[in-house]
Amino acid sequence: MNRLQVLNFGSLNIDHVYQVPHFVQPGETLACTAYAKFAGGKGLNQSVALARAGVHVAHAGKIGTDGGFLAETLQAAGVDTRFLLHGDGPTGHACIQVDATGQNLILLHPGANREISDAEIVTILDQVPTGTILLLQNEISGMPTLIREAKKRALPVAINPAPCGPEVAGYPLDLVDLLFVNEVEAAQLVGETGAPDELLAELAARFPAGEIVMTLGGDGACYAKGDERFQVPSPPVTVVDTTSAGDTFTGYFLAAKLRGFSAREAMRIAAKAGSIAVSRAGAAVSIPAADEVFD
Ligand code: RIB
Repeated sequence: MNRLQVLNFGSLNIDHVYQVPHFVQPGETLACTAYAKFAGGKGLNQSVALARAGVHVAHAGKIGTDGGFLAETLQAAGVDTRFLLHGDGPTGHACIQVDATGQNLILLHPGANREISDAEIVTILDQVPTGTILLLQNEISGMPTLIREAKKRALPVAINPAPCGPEVAGYPLDLVDLLFVNEVEAAQLVGETGAPDELLAELAARFPAGEIVMTLGGDGACYAKGDERFQVPSPPVTVVDTTSAGDTFTGYFLAAKLRGFSAREAMRIAAKAGSIAVSRAGAAVSIPAADEVFD
């Protein structure tokens, strides 16, 4: 596939992963039982998932002087890196605690991810063919510009507004075509907690023109578009590390849609891919290949 299908303008992080018996508590000093350094960032993970799923994806984002191995990770996965920007400071990084149950706790230093200028965004979007899907997360600077400039160029916008800080309320989400959230992010967007079906209904009311995908961890994921609503289960697996499960889901859902699968089938395929990712350690490295996922 030569035609560019997805431009992912997203983060690239160096993930420092610490295996811990429990998450460190305020005032506590805790020795980890294992440490590893991985390629990560929600953006990079989603690009790797798309590429492993067979999509022609280009990754735009910014690394610093220490981020060379992240570019190599993207290239090794088959991601097009022609739009990758290089800054003078440090690359973004994440300190990730993974506890005995495989749950994680993440502290981010944005680094170069938040040094992307509006001029750099416009220069890159000007080179992207009409119809290419613009995929976004919320770990880089320039988010409102990206959404508005994409719509001016007739690029469909898919967004996973994670992490979902208060600034997201000011983004022009009414212009978005596809929204990926987990339950926590859905509650943050809606402004109150609720049962998954209540959150989904509220999001559907706010974004009536778009597709909404809400992941529910071990309980699967649910989907809404207009009046259409359904939930798919998560295949049962032994959880090793949940890092990048949502990113894997996002990449495989988009990939399945681009292959022509229905929304329901794409949800099933994405849930399978996400469950494989949680059964393995690490972020990008845990993302399955297409032949492990597509029947
Ligand atoms: O979604 C997982 C990712 O979140 C990690 O790879 C980490 O870098 C943070 O961005």
